[in-house]
Amino acid sequence: MKHKIQIIQGDITQQKVDAIVNAANTALLGGGGVDGAIHRAAGPELLQECRTLGGCPTGEARITKGYRLSAKFVIHAVGPVWNGGGRNEAGLLADCYRQSLKLASENGAKTIAFPSISTGAYRFPIESACEIALKTVLQCLETMSGIEKVIFVCFSKSDYEIYQRTFEKLKPSADKKAVQ
Ligand code: APR
Repeated sequence: MKHKIQIIQGDITQQKVDAIVNAANTALLGGGGVDGAIHRAAGPELLQECRTLGGCPTGEARITKGYRLSAKFVIHAVGPVWNGGGRNEAGLLADCYRQSLKLASENGAKTIAFPSISTGAYRFPIESACEIALKTVLQCLETMSGIEKVIFVCFSKSDYEIYQRTFEKLKPSADKKAVQ
């Protein structure tokens, strides 16, 4: 059975998918990390459109065009800053994945690529962030038949290995959820 989920190591701006997800901040006006890479690759029109959105609260996402990216859409998800785990960081991170998939589905995007949201500048521990990401996406895929492929794009080899190992752990349940 073919899984809908793929884990790769690479640069999200190079992915040939309908939508790529950006790990943005509440201002939605660009930044460093993957936010900076996506804005550089998409070109200045992306920032122009972001300026019209009026920001985005943590745990939510907004969708824009992809401009010079091969992706039709960029979905800007605002992950939580890690503050020790006592401020619903896990719930807010899960919401980022749920809201991103919801926006993708509502806009007819069938393939979507995620970075490892909040695990860079926002210091969310990678092991727990990865488990939240995979579990949330697996759960959403049960009811979102329109989404055909989800690619987790890990920038570093170590993140890639953590995602692979975590997915292997979750796979027995994923087998049950694999699509026909
Ligand atoms: N492709 C895929 N993943 C990338 C890329 C890229 N081109 N560049 C960086 N990453 C990875 C990082 O290695 C990390 O694993 O994206 C993950 C998220 O890290 P950040 O980009 O730092 O995002 P985050 O931790 O969510 O912090 C968001 O940082 O860049 C600012 O404006 C952004 O204020 C916001 C904050």
